[in-house]
Amino acid sequence: MNRIFSGVQPTGNLHLGNYLGAIRNWARLQDQYDCIYCVVDLHAITTPQDPSELRANTREVTAGLMAAGIDPKRNIIFNQSRVSGHAELAWVFNCVARLGWLNRMTQFKEKAGKHRDNATVGLYAYPTLMAADILLYKATHVPVGEDQKQHLELTRDIAKAFNSMFGTEFFPMPEPLILGAARVMSLRDGSKKMSKSDDSDYSRINMADDADSIALKVRKARTDPEPLPESTDGLEGRTEAANLLGIYGALADKTVQQVCEEFAGKSFSQFKLQLIDLAIAVLAPIGHEMKRLSEDPGHVDQVLSDGADRATQIATPILSDVKKVVGLT
Ligand code: TRP
Repeated sequence: MNRIFSGVQPTGNLHLGNYLGAIRNWARLQDQYDCIYCVVDLHAITTPQDPSELRANTREVTAGLMAAGIDPKRNIIFNQSRVSGHAELAWVFNCVARLGWLNRMTQFKEKAGKHRDNATVGLYAYPTLMAADILLYKATHVPVGEDQKQHLELTRDIAKAFNSMFGTEFFPMPEPLILGAARVMSLRDGSKKMSKSDDSDYSRINMADDADSIALKVRKARTDPEPLPESTDGLEGRTEAANLLGIYGALADKTVQQVCEEFAGKSFSQFKLQLIDLAIAVLAPIGHEMKRLSEDPGHVDQVLSDGADRATQIATPILSDVKKVVGLT
């Protein structure tokens, strides 16, 4: 049986990069797989979080997943901290994974920066918790972006080490699902990734934006004075142009080459009108639904608790087998 697991941090300000990079793909996978989508609040607290913001962000991200078309009845949507098995299995994995393996994790090095002694133990152990997320459900496939590939490799190393330590074939090796994900850059600076933490809201299109804000942000997006090229070769060194064409292509499900052919020789003001129409057609209904859900937090909470109950039903027998294998029961 194939089972998908993936996680998203409750960081708030979900934007077009999150949508095109992950969430849209998650919605597409629900037709082919049993999917478990987890809002990873335990991962969020590896760096300091304001408690009331964390609570609000967990709801916002859940609403974003639902608004993007992920059906909480056909799939499981829940937040990580409600299923205690994640933390329990992570501890077992802390006793399987080696310091040397974690020392190689580039995300920790980036996030901890120069102040490594000041990073939390949780930030360091982040990958063992992620391994527990996946293996607690014996997930077979994990949709991940480029930045999480190393963590998935580590998950496989942990599964392999656990199996060989205890002489079993207990855990399957989860496979990455690398889906054609667009890399979306800031609308103000084509060399920076679109980010929730950019000071300027004009740098990003939020999933919760309404049609007027989408139009305004696209209109104000930085471009260059040249017309649109007839092929991708003409995008060399033109980061802002490449970004807008990439966004158009991702929203229209076309390659950037096809978009170039469609708009060759046109000016950016002409192109932007089309981009505005397309972005509004795809994103405004999502923003609208997120707003509706934000006014109905009881419903979102219900989805999370129902999801947690169903996740628990899958996780409980697996965790209990782990405890037997290890000799804890
Ligand atoms: N670390 C992932 C990220 O920041 C989120 C995540 C947590 C995850 N657990 C996971 C992704 C399990 C895939 C599978 O994007």
